[in-house]
Parts: sequence; C-alpha cells; structure tokens
Amino acid sequence: MIIASQRDKFSMPRDLCYLNAAYMTPQTLAMQEIGAEAVARRARPWRISEADFFSDVERLRAAFARLIGASAENVAIIPAASYGIAVAARNMKLEPGQAILVLGQQFPSNVYSWMRLAEEQGAELLVAKRRAGEDWAEAVIRTTNEAAGRVQVFALPQVHWSDGAPVDLHRIAGLVGDLGAQLVLDVTQSLGAVPFDIDGLNPDYVIAAGYKWLFCPYGISFLYLAEPHFEGVPLEENWINRMGSEDFAGPVDYEPRYLPGARRFDMGERAQFGQLPMAIEALRQIDEWGVQNIAETLAATNREIADLFAAYGFVAATGQGSPHLMGLVADQEPPADLVGGLAGAGVKLSLRGRAVRIAPHLYNDAEDLELLGRALEATLGRP
Ligand SMILES: Cc1ncc(COP(=O)(O)O)c(C=O)c1O
Repeated sequence: MIIASQRDKFSMPRDLCYLNAAYMTPQTLAMQEIGAEAVARRARPWRISEADFFSDVERLRAAFARLIGASAENVAIIPAASYGIAVAARNMKLEPGQAILVLGQQFPSNVYSWMRLAEEQGAELLVAKRRAGEDWAEAVIRTTNEAAGRVQVFALPQVHWSDGAPVDLHRIAGLVGDLGAQLVLDVTQSLGAVPFDIDGLNPDYVIAAGYKWLFCPYGISFLYLAEPHFEGVPLEENWINRMGSEDFAGPVDYEPRYLPGARRFDMGERAQFGQLPMAIEALRQIDEWGVQNIAETLAATNREIADLFAAYGFVAATGQGSPHLMGLVADQEPPADLVGGLAGAGVKLSLRGRAVRIAPHLYNDAEDLELLGRALEATLGRP
C-alpha cells in the first residue's frame, strides 16, 4: 500500500528537499515532544524510580524483536553498530587458515573488528568483489567456492550502504549452513525500510544502528543474538546486567550470574532516560506505517527521482537498487561540486564514491520533487 505524504509529522522547511535518510533520519514531532518530556524528567531525578531503569529497556527490546520476527529474549540494546560487530567478533573462535568474508567497500563498522580478529587468530579476511554481470550474492558464493569453503564467518549487509545494491541473503544462507559457518548481518542501511525477518536466514547475529531507517536517537542501536550465543562473553561487565540488579541495596553482593537471554550484552547505562522513550516512539511509528508499505512507497518515490535524474544522463550505479536507496552515476563527468550545487538550491543528498546516493522517506512529497527538478536545472542546466 502506498502511504500518503507524512510530511506533517515532521518539522521540515518547505524550501528543503531532504533525500538523505541513509545519513540520518529526522525525528517526528511526536518524538521531539516525547524527547522534551524525557529530558525534563531526567533533569528531576527524584521522578525517576528504580523500576524505570528496567521498564523502557524491556519495551524497546520487545519492539525491536517484533520488527525482525524474533523474541525479546534474543535482543540487546547497544550504542552503535560497531559495538554489536565487536560482540560477535569477540565470541568467534577461528582456526588459522579459516576465513571471514566481507563485501568490497563494506561499511567500516562491519570490517575493522574482522581485520583485528583475522590478525589475532591467524585467519584470512576475504573480500568479495562483483564482476561484470554479477550480483552480490553471486560474488559471495563464487568467492567462497574459490576459497575452497574455508569461510567460517559471513559478515554482510542486506544492501550495500553506498548505492543500495541488494544482497540476496536467502541465497547465501544455505551456503552458510552447509559450511557450518556463522552469519553476522549489519542491517543498518535497510531495516525499517526493507522487509526483513530472521525466519529462513538463521543468522547468528543481526545488528542495526538506530539513527537511520529506524528513526531512533543517535546512540541507540540493536543486537540480535541466536540462542547458542547466549553464554558468550559481553564487551563490558556492568552491574545492571547481573541477576538481582533490581535490588539497588545489594550490588556489592557480587553476582556471578547474568540476567537471562541476550541481556548480558546490553550496553552500560542502557537506561538512557532521555533517549529510550524517543526510540520506543520511533519503532511504534514504523510499526504503524508498516515496513512493506514504507518499501512500496519509497520505491515509487525513487522511480520518480530516477526519472528526473535520467533526463541528465544519470543511471543506476549497479543496475539494481533497493526500494529505499539508490546510487545514480552520470554518463558524463558531472560538475565537480554537484552535491554542493544541489544543496545551495535546497536539495540535501550525499555522494558515495562516484554515485549520487538517493535516500528519500515518507516526508518527501510532490512539492519536494518539483523542488528537485528546479534544483537540477539550476545546477546542471536545461536537460
Ligand atoms: C552499513 C552501516 N553500518 C553501520 C553504520 C553506523 O555504524 P556505527 O553505529 O558503528 O557508527 C553505518 C553508517 O553510515 C552504515 O552505513
């Protein structure tokens, strides 16, 4: 179902066409209001009860779990995607010669921990690169076969962050299972805008930074762990993740047992009093819109945007995009400061490599597309 413009839920100036959700999404007026209340409450700690250290964390955990078809027991609240990847890497045991596979030009938060792990454990970091005519799944499968199946960790996204090229995870999941390997997914650039469900993928870890397609405050991110990893080692040892932590009088009766499920991996100071109520509202709003509806609506918006750029010789960077995110490249050299020129005319987007990255959301309406048309003409001349 196509969702009608949601611009009235945001405070966006009319002379701005913001096409940069992949950089950071704006926050709804409801989130701003809830955030202001939460900050005012934090300013008065006598209004924050001991129970409040637990309640919103559990609400948010459950909301994220629903979004990916998991149980709340499997979800930890973390500060950044890199933190979740570091948890996964910390709990991997590789033999010398085994390999970790990532995509070419993958986002660094899902690469640096693997570089370190490879170095520490004598493993190899394999980089899958697409050949002409190949999609990402084909490149991953070919690279794995060329390495004679030595891959024990597949650290992948659902779409490439730079241009939205999809990674068909269902085609890769079978291979992961056959090799007895682990699947670590960074879905930061797709979750909330592209349907995703752990069912059928059997991932070991799923990580998402919250501040892009999930509309969450900066600093609130999510980690799903499959049950076999519940006994793993967390990055930090904080008091609230131990059994009995709700008894504020007793934290020096040092407790060897952790809270159940994935809670041992929650970040320190997880009860972000100012931020969690906004994150809960963000996930509620996404649930109300419906991810399938968001995807269909953004795909339609992107088709219109692609047509506007096509008049200037821009085509999809990879031949295939995702509903929400696309990279466009020019057939001729575009002006050196295309992004700056468009920004001057009110259109905010990013350049990633050679591609103009287009990342709209439900606040982009017909007036925005008219503004984009005028901005392209002002920057590139008449088509
Ligand atoms: C694919 C991907 N993962 C993660 C992040 C953010 O990483 P972190 O939360 O570690 O800052 C980004 C930011 O652009 C991204 O594109």
